[in-house]
Amino acid sequence: MDVATAPIKAPKGSVDALVRLAAADMGGVDALITARLDSPVPVIPALAEHLIAAGGKRLRPLLTVAAARLAGGTDDACLKLAAAVEFIHTATLLHDDVVDGSQLRRGKVAAHLIWGGASSVLVGDFLFARSFELMVETGSLRSLAILAKASSVIAEGEVLQLTRAHDLNLDQHTYLEIIRAKTAELFAASAEAGAVSAGAPESQIAALRTYGLNLGLAFQLADDALDYSGVAETLGKNAGDDFREGKATLPLLLAIARSGPREAEFWERAIGRLDQTEADFRRAREIIVGTGALQATLDLGSDYAETAKAALAGFPDNEWRRSLEALADFSVSRPA
Ligand code: IPE
Ligand code: IPE
Ligand code: MG
Ligand code: MG
Repeated sequence: MDVATAPIKAPKGSVDALVRLAAADMGGVDALITARLDSPVPVIPALAEHLIAAGGKRLRPLLTVAAARLAGGTDDACLKLAAAVEFIHTATLLHDDVVDGSQLRRGKVAAHLIWGGASSVLVGDFLFARSFELMVETGSLRSLAILAKASSVIAEGEVLQLTRAHDLNLDQHTYLEIIRAKTAELFAASAEAGAVSAGAPESQIAALRTYGLNLGLAFQLADDALDYSGVAETLGKNAGDDFREGKATLPLLLAIARSGPREAEFWERAIGRLDQTEADFRRAREIIVGTGALQATLDLGSDYAETAKAALAGFPDNEWRRSLEALADFSVSRPA
């Protein structure tokens, strides 16, 4: 059988089938991204290309394309929205690495360490603005509203997180509110806008939004677990960044709640006062694994991944649906 006509299988926990199904559409998205990076101010394409050429998983534009195709869209209307979505994501990464002081992104030196923090922030602003130009070109005020809202919610999430860093008493509800805003909202909006561009009925638009939201929560929970269990070679970013910043993520919060009074002083020093050494990260990782906090974080992620899959129940059982189900499994079984 010809490879091109072979049925596309979606192995559990893999993004391969989705990548293959969406290959032609994503080629169009990448062409748009490259074309719209152009600027007469040389540092803009240079800095942006440094990050964009490094790849990344392109999950959010994949979501826009897949949502549009699953909802029956047959034209190119979703491509500009998908490019806009990746621009928004890339802008947030540029800003986030400055805010978090991260040194590695997509396996490369973070842009702010090469061009400086000011250029990184300003090129992030450029990408945000370009994404809005792309959205306006689609003529869909509704898609524009969805992605504009997501952009302001992401910023709220990042600011809320900033104000609650080093907070050893952060409650799980507020943590979930932060990751919903900073990450899940863009996943939700990416899928929702894709469905809107396909002219899908309201029930399908809502279902795809629910899928994206839960996928995003699962994805960020796994990401927060991987910050303690992963390695830079696979992640493309340094493990331990969250600990070094004193970021109150769920694995840490659960470990604090589950560890005894002997560790209370350790947490207060290392996270509360940010007085820590490299050995402290290893100790934190041992406690996080030993108390089951890491596994509990992944288990909660798996619950959201299941909710995401359940949201697709009303769609036809086709390759797009199966590959989105596999993407939900992938979000919580990413290699460490
Ligand atoms: C990184 O997102 C930011 C988080 C929400 C954790 P991705 O892991 O999707 O980043 P890229 O685009 O693949 O580099
Ligand atoms: C991801 O935040 C969300 C955004 C970039 C808006 P994180 O700070 O947790 O993501 P990484 O770990 O830097 O990718
Ligand atoms: Mg970060
Ligand atoms: Mg992180």
